[in-house]
Amino acid sequence: MKRKDNPSILFVCLGNICRSPLVEAVARRRCAEAGLEVALASCGTGNWHVGKGADPRMRRAAEAVGYDLASHRARQVRADDFSAYDWVLAMDSDNLEALLSLRGHRGTEPELFLRWAGVASPQEFPDPYFGDAEGFEEAVALAERGVDGLIARLRKG
Ligand code: 4NP
Repeated sequence: MKRKDNPSILFVCLGNICRSPLVEAVARRRCAEAGLEVALASCGTGNWHVGKGADPRMRRAAEAVGYDLASHRARQVRADDFSAYDWVLAMDSDNLEALLSLRGHRGTEPELFLRWAGVASPQEFPDPYFGDAEGFEEAVALAERGVDGLIARLRKG
């Protein structure tokens, strides 16, 4: 629920099995380390993987550097997410467009994650799903950069 003292953030990608669960896991660990109390979740605009765990390639790359995705289960975005979360952050413009269509005119206005986090480039989080193992390692590094920016923004209040 929306509360200023304990902000809530929903990360959104397409399948909710690669990018957004990764960013959620990185943010979960780093916010805890930074002593920030933030409610974190993720979901997808698509429904193909609902109920499934994170992509095994994403799990491998994330867990190799200590981000645990074992308990993640994919879910699809819902209209009431826009009233439940203070920030709804899309991984790329396609997902931002899908969120804007679903939202209508009420609730939290979705934004691009990397832009919101102050990352100048890239502002689109590349989808590693159809690529090679290197893409998943790059995704971890980009998630860390984004979460660094997220923490800086939350600290500013
Ligand atoms: P994600 O990656 O949006 O980062 O979870 C994808 C996962 C699945 C598909 C595409 C992207 N898919 O086409 O099934």
